[in-house]
Amino acid sequence: MLAAAVNPSDINTIEGKYPLAPATPAVAGFEGVGVVEAVGAGVSRQRVGDHVVPIEHGQGTWCTLGRFQERSWYRVPADLPTAAAGALVINPPTALRLLEEFVPLRPGDSIALTGASSAVGRYLLQLARWRGVNAVAVVRARRDAAADAALAAELKALGAAVVSREGALREALAEAGLPPPVLGLDCVAGEAGGELARALAPGGTLVVYGGMAQASLKLPPSLLIFKNLTVRGFW
Ligand SMILES: NC(=O)c1ccc[n+]([C@@H]2O[C@H](COP(=O)([O-])OP(=O)(O)OC[C@H]3O[C@@H](n4cnc5c(N)ncnc54)[C@H](OP(=O)(O)O)[C@@H]3O)[C@@H](O)[C@H]2O)c1
Repeated sequence: MLAAAVNPSDINTIEGKYPLAPATPAVAGFEGVGVVEAVGAGVSRQRVGDHVVPIEHGQGTWCTLGRFQERSWYRVPADLPTAAAGALVINPPTALRLLEEFVPLRPGDSIALTGASSAVGRYLLQLARWRGVNAVAVVRARRDAAADAALAAELKALGAAVVSREGALREALAEAGLPPPVLGLDCVAGEAGGELARALAPGGTLVVYGGMAQASLKLPPSLLIFKNLTVRGFW
């Protein structure tokens, strides 16, 4: 392996909190990029020297050398930067599907996302800008105001229309004068997920795809009764 990503799902798997549990002893690591060192008889699609990424869960990428099935790996261009190739198969397609599969978005619509400093969040911001959608990025407060400002500038450069600290979303939206978000994408849950839900437009959709706060999603029943929000999950 040339490089292997460390994703929250790897940690969850090691903790025994993920639905996919490999038989132990096992090597962890869902994602990465490797170079083919040797091929067995009958291998037809891959050659020695090819750069390959896993396209099946549970390959165990946190290793130097491994023996794998040809069908579980996909050849990528060898000049793709190693860090990009090693983090190609989980977060970029997740961001694309979150944006495409739940609410038909039109240019000028708003969406909001928690955990916007994450890899998925950064892909979402870029894709939203490309689609002409206003992305409201919610992040945890940094250690001081200068660090808050630096992160906000970074996320705005990627595509965020607004960057809000957790706990200040309502004010940030009011100040920005954007239409209320029709789609909320939550990878934090707990208080932050509840705050995101409260900021959505009536009839809006909340998609929960992670639980970084390790706390139950705090959702007042009134949001479902009076605002008719739809809550979905994604995996
Ligand atoms: N459902 C699926 O199919 C699927 C697929 C891919 C990823 N995911 C989920 O997407 C999320 C992001 O994954 P990633 O690989 O992009 O993550 P990442 O780059 O490792 O970033 C982790 C993110 O979680 C935030 N975070 C950590 N602890 C937190 C807490 N207690 N409260 C609020 N935020 C917290 C971090 O914020 P700071 O910058 O403030 O530390 C950072 O934004 C994860 O929840 C992951 O499980 C789900």
